[in-house]
Amino acid sequence: MASPGPLIVGSGIAGLYVALRARELGLRPTLVTKSRLEESNTRYAQGGIAAALGEDDSVGRHLADTVKAGGGLVDRRAARRLTEEAPKRIADLVRFGVPFDTVDGRVALGREAAHSRSRILHAGGDATGLQIEETLRQRALHEGIEARERTVLRRLNNDGGPVVATLSRDDGSGVEEVHDRSVVLATGGAGGLYRYSSNPSITTGEGIGVAFRAGATVTDLEFVQFHPTTFYHDGAPRFLMTEAIRGEGAILRNDAGERFLPKYDRAAELAPRDVVSRAIDREMRRTGAPCVWLDATGIDRDRLFARFPTIIRFLASYGIDPSRERIPVAPAAHYTVGGVATDLDGHSTVPGLYACGEVAATGVHGANRLASNSLLEGLVFGERVARQLAHPTAGRPPTPGRSQTVSLREGRNEPMTERSFSSLREILWEKVGIVRDGPGLREAVRRLQTLGDGLEPAQPQDLPLPGADAALTARLIATAALARTESRGAHWRADHPKPLAAWKLHLGLSRSGG
Ligand code: SIN
Repeated sequence: MASPGPLIVGSGIAGLYVALRARELGLRPTLVTKSRLEESNTRYAQGGIAAALGEDDSVGRHLADTVKAGGGLVDRRAARRLTEEAPKRIADLVRFGVPFDTVDGRVALGREAAHSRSRILHAGGDATGLQIEETLRQRALHEGIEARERTVLRRLNNDGGPVVATLSRDDGSGVEEVHDRSVVLATGGAGGLYRYSSNPSITTGEGIGVAFRAGATVTDLEFVQFHPTTFYHDGAPRFLMTEAIRGEGAILRNDAGERFLPKYDRAAELAPRDVVSRAIDREMRRTGAPCVWLDATGIDRDRLFARFPTIIRFLASYGIDPSRERIPVAPAAHYTVGGVATDLDGHSTVPGLYACGEVAATGVHGANRLASNSLLEGLVFGERVARQLAHPTAGRPPTPGRSQTVSLREGRNEPMTERSFSSLREILWEKVGIVRDGPGLREAVRRLQTLGDGLEPAQPQDLPLPGADAALTARLIATAALARTESRGAHWRADHPKPLAAWKLHLGLSRSGG
């Protein structure tokens, strides 16, 4: 009898791509997703996907930019794979039908912060994620890949043998155990755990919590990337204003109308996003204003409207014409650099459990991801996972340079409510945000422990309570941020404002006794 195919959890670029490639490699994958198939963080990606395809570009340059952005912590082997394999994975997307934008018959390449060359492919102007998601989703349906919506991964059991996954419907009904299948986590990041985020609200990081609970090592969680420019308007969603607008020449001004970034970094608007986010945060604190202003009025109107149709439509619904007026913007949580520790083939420390995309941490981004390397990461490491599923080899992620255990018993075993989630989001934003410090982080860890993260079910056979894995992920982020007593990349400590040689390493967290 044919062995059952892999169970893939998540329907963003990584999950859909692994499913499609696993199918091409002769497997029968099942894909489950907690929401609708088309709802994922990928869908909202605007800027695009990086690959060294320009005549003036090279893999070496893309690699160098990736390493430079990563604050001394990039795993060079991972970054080499990412940048070397990028053109082949883009060719796969073209083969699947993704309609990348072109100019004179050649793929159009945009510029984004911290890239030394124009190398960002885009589709539908600023609708790159939507175009990719829709193309892969339709292809998966066409290929007859079994896809189950509103299905939640409740637990992974690892008693030394093959991993056992427990699933249920999103209302908690229909609990079932899945045995004898490799499990691929492609559940995305945890940006939605923050009060302000560019991500959709479903990005609550359960994949990290569920893997940790099963004994997997998680790493680099202190590195949460904040996007400098999301739409600021009372009551409005923090809609992304892609970096590509700055790549086209837009500048940032403070409340007094002054351009301020040259004061913070020579690269000004094209400095790495952690630098830009901190500079905005500082200007906002200095002036007491709740936002700064993205000024795109210097960009040719036709070009602006053709290149950013999604943003133009969004702003029009608030009565803003960016060719004539400035856009109010503020930073928001955007990308989870850390996650489930994996090797370059997606093996986690739990046998039979793979991870790829934003939920995984290969070390490819170091302490700070280069813009538009995240969709790419989903493809490159998704491909490597698909090949492992078809032809498994032994593997194990490298042991992090420093490890810390976390006791599950310290959490409270109570269900998360709307109210506790809203406190959690507030705590992360206020205390584990763009600029952190020891007292704030200690307070965050203490308060997150009392929020009812339901860490140890009352009985071993009980499933974790709803919301427990998301709450656990929040606590792990705060714990990691407290442990790293230096500033590096996306992790900025006001009480330790310099990078330290002793911290030029990855921090791994695992459960005590697990
Ligand atoms: C953006 O379009 O500015 C976001 C790109 C990214 O996060 O890689």
